[in-house]
Amino acid sequence: MLNRREFLKTTGAGLAVLLYNHSSILNAETIIKKEDKIMAYSPKDYSKLIGMEGFSETLLKNHFTLYQGYVTNTNKVLDTLDAMLKEGKTGTPEFAELKRRLGWEFNGMRLHEYYFENLGGKGGINKEGNLAKKLAEGFGSYESWEKDFKAVGTMRGIGWAVLYQDITNGRLINFWINEHDVSHPAGCNPILIMDVFEHAFMIDYGLKRADYIEAFFKNINWDEVEKRLK
Ligand SMILES: [Fe+2]
Repeated sequence: MLNRREFLKTTGAGLAVLLYNHSSILNAETIIKKEDKIMAYSPKDYSKLIGMEGFSETLLKNHFTLYQGYVTNTNKVLDTLDAMLKEGKTGTPEFAELKRRLGWEFNGMRLHEYYFENLGGKGGINKEGNLAKKLAEGFGSYESWEKDFKAVGTMRGIGWAVLYQDITNGRLINFWINEHDVSHPAGCNPILIMDVFEHAFMIDYGLKRADYIEAFFKNINWDEVEKRLK
């Protein structure tokens, strides 16, 4: 039986590892070490966001550390799955559970990257810009879109508010994403991402999520957001 330290070190992925026997894990790790790790993900540096109005350094540094954990675990889960494929273990419940886990870890990584990258701006949206015009067309006015997006962000629960663009017809839709991996619309393009997990605001705002959302809006990098539009 793995102790807690071994368990976290090996995959960070819970149930599958508890089911997976120790010798198999060692074999998997050996295989990984012998081969080149292709396309491993590296955490990006978002330290330039420190100093942003309404976000303490403590909160941001904690958030960066949490994000880095998703990058590490995405690599670990992908490497372990790759090793299991090579070992002929794809028919096992351990493989299935890690595959389920992959969506959580990968989206935890990628959504945080979108989130940090759509922060660090100053000033509101350019009302004459392409995005503002599309939002006004789709929602009646920019203000109406903002009201809807903020309402999504204040829904009870943990997750993400995401403005998606349906690339089949260009329609802009605000979505609630439960946790990281539930309710993403297939084939749509993420435009604006707001983290509403408690770790994103509780250090600075306690339960006042609406105040955090106001701070978020003051720091949106609208130039970056508009570039995502297709
Ligand atoms: Fe987060």
